[in-house]
Amino acid sequence: MPRAYISGVGMYVPPKVVKNDDLKAWYDTSDEWIYTRSGIKERRWVEEPASTAELGLYASQEALQQAGLSPQDIDLIIFATLSPDLYFPGSGVLLQHKLGLETTPALDIRQQCSGFVYGLSIADQFIRSGMYRRILLVGAEIQSTWLDYNPEGRTVGVLFGDGAGAVVVEATEDPNRGILSSHLYSQGAYAMELCIAEPSSATRSHELPGSYGMRPYMNGKEVFRHAVQRMGEAVQVALSAQGWKPEEVDLFILHQANIRIVQAVADFFQLPMEKFFNNIHKYGNTTAASIPICLYEAQAEGRLKAGDKVILAAFGSGFTWGSVALIW
Ligand code: COA
Repeated sequence: MPRAYISGVGMYVPPKVVKNDDLKAWYDTSDEWIYTRSGIKERRWVEEPASTAELGLYASQEALQQAGLSPQDIDLIIFATLSPDLYFPGSGVLLQHKLGLETTPALDIRQQCSGFVYGLSIADQFIRSGMYRRILLVGAEIQSTWLDYNPEGRTVGVLFGDGAGAVVVEATEDPNRGILSSHLYSQGAYAMELCIAEPSSATRSHELPGSYGMRPYMNGKEVFRHAVQRMGEAVQVALSAQGWKPEEVDLFILHQANIRIVQAVADFFQLPMEKFFNNIHKYGNTTAASIPICLYEAQAEGRLKAGDKVILAAFGSGFTWGSVALIW
């Protein structure tokens, strides 16, 4: 049975840097509050108009180049985003067209901050089954366009950024590299704790004057509590599946939602923070894009080397969570 491995990584973030203090234009907030509560110093925001699929395209082109492939070599596109260009169809088909492809299948998944981990697991299954050999997996988000810029939107508004990451997942017969296991979970009982409720098929919200619009809601404390617990469990299940001790893992990459969540997981496993790759200070929470952006930068900084034991884990809206264990 073939194994799946990541043969190329790419990322793209818009050039416009928004520092914490810049957010004072909308919110009663401070650099000190944002940094100590979340670890974020700045984030990237698009100049409008912008397209999530286009951000994904730039990241994909780099990933394909690194893999030494052209778009025509790709058997399947998986696009993870909570901020698609259109309500439907998904951004995957838009990306497919931008890549100059005719009929390559494109699949959107909506697993929010867990989108990349879910996507990697899906890619792994398609490759193990033998159905596809080369899959392009993209996580891309434009979140600055739906943030609530009213004063009450500050808790969520300061956390999120725009960006894209992409990987090429390929089949290999090499037993010494690739994805070893993945574990996925969700718990819809908490769906309303972190959501954008409109536009909705449940209400005719667009017909009610003044009520239409995308407004994120987050119960920050509840989300934080679950994130720490579930991310820790996701790491533990990956360790157990591989029989790895925590200290044997070369690099952990956890979804970048809040540095205090990563710190709590590191403390739980009694690991130094150096074992965890973080870049939330530069980009904020880029949702489905955060893990592939980390993969790109970790590789560029020499912190991911062939043969390294790696665990990826994410938690987010749904609630959804999961992990992947792999050999780089
Ligand atoms: N700037 C300044 N003050 C702010 C603020 C902001 N941007 N946002 C909230 N506050 C205020 C609150 O109003 C509150 O004031 P009060 O005590 O007078 O009521 C105070 O700061 C503390 O707010 P609180 O919500 O208790 O802060 P916190 O320590 O829980 O941190 C989060 C808030 C959002 C950073 C934290 O809950 C969190 O990270 N949650 C999880 C987020 C997450 O992971 N989301 C994505 C999952 S993928």
